[in-house]
Amino acid sequence: MEDKIRVLLTEEEVNARISEVAEQISKDYEGKKLHLICILKGGVFFTCELAKRLTVPVSLDFMSVSSYADQTESSGRVLIRKDLDETVEGKDVLIVEDIIDSGRTLAYLIEVLKLRKPASITLCTLLDKPERRVKKQVQVKYTCFTIPDEFVVGYGLDYAQKYRNLPYIGVVEL
Ligand code: IMP
Ligand code: MG
Repeated sequence: MEDKIRVLLTEEEVNARISEVAEQISKDYEGKKLHLICILKGGVFFTCELAKRLTVPVSLDFMSVSSYADQTESSGRVLIRKDLDETVEGKDVLIVEDIIDSGRTLAYLIEVLKLRKPASITLCTLLDKPERRVKKQVQVKYTCFTIPDEFVVGYGLDYAQKYRNLPYIGVVEL
């Protein structure tokens, strides 16, 4: 049976907001190079749309992490499934995520990446659910949308690996 999906943010709204955030990032990093770290798989659609709109020189790398739990709730333990291909040493790193929920994934990742001595490390997310935050120390510099505590899909986000390819953000009506 197909799930019913209610549109939360249209494709136009998402793309317009990504353009604004890209403009802000381009200003903030003027004269610098930016090393984007896309968190797979969810961050891939957002990373592409963001990267296309940045006017500073960009390099890209990918990392795949997952919590051990396979449900809609994150367990807190994080597993690196695919590590970066390149060093981050001395680079201005921007981590690009689909959504920050409890913050556990990023709290862990930032600790790991800091040990590799980047020049700077900053967070950018398409969506933020601040109500759900457990790791309060996770500071997000660039947020496209703050959303309520609902389970969302589309634009890279999945529900049991489905719906990543939806061009908008929707809520699965269970
Ligand atoms: P955190 O470690 O709790 O911040 O978990 C973040 C990860 O949980 C995200 O990268 C997503 O993969 C997943 N996640 C959290 N909320 C949602 C949601 O509403 N829809 C789809 N995936 C989600
Ligand atoms: Mg994710």
